[in-house]
Amino acid sequence: MSLCAGSPSGAPILNPMSEPLVLGIETSCDETGVALVRGHELLIDSVASSMDEHARFGGIIPEIASRAHLEAMAPTLRRALDGAGVELGDIDAIAVTAGPGLVGPLTVGASAAKALAVGLGKPLYGVNHVIGHAAVDELVDGPFPDRVMALVVSGGHSSLLLVDDIVTGITELGSTLDDAAGEAFDKVGRLLGLPYPGGPHIDRLAREGDPEAIRFPRGLTAPKDQAAHAYDFSFSGLKTAVARWVEARQDAGQEIPLADVAASFAAAVADVLTAKTIAACQRHDVSTLVIGGGFSANSQLREMAAARCAAAGIDLRIPPIRYCTDNGAMIAALGAAVVRRGLPPSPLDLPVDSSMPLTQVLV
Ligand code: KG4
Ligand code: ZN
Repeated sequence: MSLCAGSPSGAPILNPMSEPLVLGIETSCDETGVALVRGHELLIDSVASSMDEHARFGGIIPEIASRAHLEAMAPTLRRALDGAGVELGDIDAIAVTAGPGLVGPLTVGASAAKALAVGLGKPLYGVNHVIGHAAVDELVDGPFPDRVMALVVSGGHSSLLLVDDIVTGITELGSTLDDAAGEAFDKVGRLLGLPYPGGPHIDRLAREGDPEAIRFPRGLTAPKDQAAHAYDFSFSGLKTAVARWVEARQDAGQEIPLADVAASFAAAVADVLTAKTIAACQRHDVSTLVIGGGFSANSQLREMAAARCAAAGIDLRIPPIRYCTDNGAMIAALGAAVVRRGLPPSPLDLPVDSSMPLTQVLV
């Protein structure tokens, strides 16, 4: 592994011609993820989750998540190193989530990454969590073609990105104006009396229901929305429509057909996400679509995207579910892409940014 000296921060710049071993650290929410990537190859991915500690509160409690990251960091790192048969001294570069996410949890990961960078004398790269959700697909399905569309859907984001280069060429075509897709599922889950997080529970229920039983609204799809919001999403009106429908039934003393409500709601979300995304692919002449983020575990979205992409001649790439939810591999993958392009490392005092813009891949 060769190093070139002389970055603005004083840290060495890695030689982009070689295949460095990149450690990825992810702590933006409730998962502590540590992974090792060399080039496009994932050596190991180790994840610890504190979700069980949040479930009884019905949402992520940042203080609890921060403490859990602190406790899980060293053992998760050790598991990754041992699993890959790698020593700390073998690591060539350290990538860490700099944002967006929860400030406390992000700070724990960034502090660990800074300590490792200083202790090992290796460069540090603070990277964007949301872009990482798209980048991880390169580990599974191989390097991206020249131009891909990426739909990143999670508990915090629903973003449509035109990707000419995963590090230097991201254009944000649209995003959610209110609730993210996963957030809408979690809120509807709560109103249907399901445990937190509601997303996977609605997914399971929906498989037993009729997606056409109730015609729920499709947000921002009216002709008047085409000019300003063709590729933006809004799920808060849909969530309210589900609440009104359920209340009306309850007031009339009728039973709630939970599976049909879940199926009809899930169909409305999947319909809007896939229709807008495929329209964007056609408008921008893109024939490869990557879907990532925790919500891309959703089976209604996966099925509708597969059917509509096949009909439109679009090559669909969705990583396996364990790489859709938060993990260290996504950060190591994006870090490896940054290193390959020979960009200078982040400063050792890199700040975390809870609302890091999606056009900024590297701090
Ligand atoms: O990316 P992620 O792990 O964390 C964030 O960065 O937000 O996404 C978590 C979100 C949660 O809202 C969760 O309910 C949702 O993804 N989710 C699902 C499914 N699995 C996870 N939503 C619907 N169906 C699923 N199968
Ligand atoms: Zn995420």
